[in-house]
Amino acid sequence: VERTPLIAGNWKMNLDHLQAIAFVQKLSWALKDVKHDFGDVEVAVFPPFTDLRSVQTLLAADKLALTLGAQDVSPQQAGAFTGDVSAAMLAKLEVKYVLVGHSERRHGHGESNEAVGAKARAAQAAGMIPVICVGETAEDLEAHGAAAIPLAQMQAAVTQLPADAEFVVAYEPVWAIGSGQAATPEQAEEVARALREALRDLRGDDRAAATRILYGGSVASQNVAAFMRQPNVDGALVGGASLKVDEFSRIVQFK
Ligand code: G3H
Repeated sequence: VERTPLIAGNWKMNLDHLQAIAFVQKLSWALKDVKHDFGDVEVAVFPPFTDLRSVQTLLAADKLALTLGAQDVSPQQAGAFTGDVSAAMLAKLEVKYVLVGHSERRHGHGESNEAVGAKARAAQAAGMIPVICVGETAEDLEAHGAAAIPLAQMQAAVTQLPADAEFVVAYEPVWAIGSGQAATPEQAEEVARALREALRDLRGDDRAAATRILYGGSVASQNVAAFMRQPNVDGALVGGASLKVDEFSRIVQFK
């Protein structure tokens, strides 16, 4: 099975809408020159909610080869949920992917496996593709090894999706996020392989083979190629390095 690699830039809480416009223009300009090299790679940006409308307009007008993602979504459809943004609102902005369960949401906002699954389901029901983020803390790693927590987190979310739903899994060891201390490619592969094996049991061979599993955590232009060479790693979820046009362009051209 061919899995189109996905390089995803999670901006986190960075860039206001004017900065976002300038950034996406520069990025698309940088990527135009290398079009033929990365034609079979999907590149997505995940701006803050306040930037989505501006970025959507830019992508639509210029027919840029970038896709749009959101960093979070409400599990609720509509109503008295102050501060939340619904899946329908995101879908209307041509958002294709939605991050659910990023560790900064799980740990900073107390999101449970249950809540993450409900968000994945809301995104999927609105026609978007959930990017289910999973990963162990340094303490988890010490106590349970690398794969146990990511496996449990993935299973909890995937089982809340319909049987035929498409989704992406992002494996991000919490200790590797923003630390400059990426996992080794072998560590990432070991967990990605375990996740894919579990997907076989959960969703069958075809879905397991078609599902993209990303690695995230201190990905940079110097290490991305080594991750991408791993047979079960199909892309990267990039934080800090996705905010620098030159560096992110180099990451996209990982080959
Ligand atoms: O969503 C992105 C990850 O949290 C990775 O962030 O590349 O800054 O380590 P980082």
